[in-house]
Amino acid sequence: MYKETGLRSILKTLSWRLWATLITATIVYLFTGRLDVAAAVGGIDLLVKLFLYYLHERIWNNVNYGKKEVVSRVFWFTGLSGAGKSTLAEALYAELKKKGYKTEHLDGDNVRHIFPKTGFTKEERDRHIRRVGFLASKLENNGVFVTASFISPYKESRDFVRKLCRNFVEIYVATSLEVCEQRDIKGLYAKARAGEINHFTGINDPYEIPENPEIIIDTSKESINQSIKRILQYIDKK
Ligand code: ADX
Repeated sequence: MYKETGLRSILKTLSWRLWATLITATIVYLFTGRLDVAAAVGGIDLLVKLFLYYLHERIWNNVNYGKKEVVSRVFWFTGLSGAGKSTLAEALYAELKKKGYKTEHLDGDNVRHIFPKTGFTKEERDRHIRRVGFLASKLENNGVFVTASFISPYKESRDFVRKLCRNFVEIYVATSLEVCEQRDIKGLYAKARAGEINHFTGINDPYEIPENPEIIIDTSKESINQSIKRILQYIDKK
């Protein structure tokens, strides 16, 4: 969110004029072979167009036609543990940053360190998601793009966050339980199967599939680049 100041317009005017005048004078010299004529044309050109360029620049700065407003959004990645939510959210975060947008990434694992007493019962998860969702909506209201990756297994709390946000993009990372369990990057599925972890989503705790997500991604069927491209195309269309 930058404002084009008058000083910046003056600097742009000077740099462009010096460059353009040099070209004009060179062309005049090539045609006439006379340095005095080239210098005279260059000098007049410089003075007149300095003024015209500055005027032109300031007029355009007051015209909104042709400008496209960048609307901040909350990209909410939901899905099983190991589905690929964090990887996708981080990749999208990097793309949005590259575009120059203010962006924040909120991830289940990282945020839980700040609230270490948050457990995995329905009540605790719902409270957690509402808390993080509130933060995401505040960021969004202030023009920040948010990529959020949380299992967020319950429809009610996801819908609660949707209502808080202005532009909520629910991305269901639909990678199957079989694939997530096969990957078992953190070794948590094995522990849950062995009965060492309670309330483990997909094993001994439910996951409510989103009914109307804006985007569905299965990371076992699509590359990260393809998924990110689809998400960016979605933004462009909206
Ligand atoms: S959420 O349900 O409240 O949205 P969140 O995304 O913050 O969950 O945290 C999920 C992460 O916590 C998982 O990726 C996993 O590493 C870890 N975890 C530890 N215990 C559990 C559990 N019982 N169920 C799900 N994930 C768990």
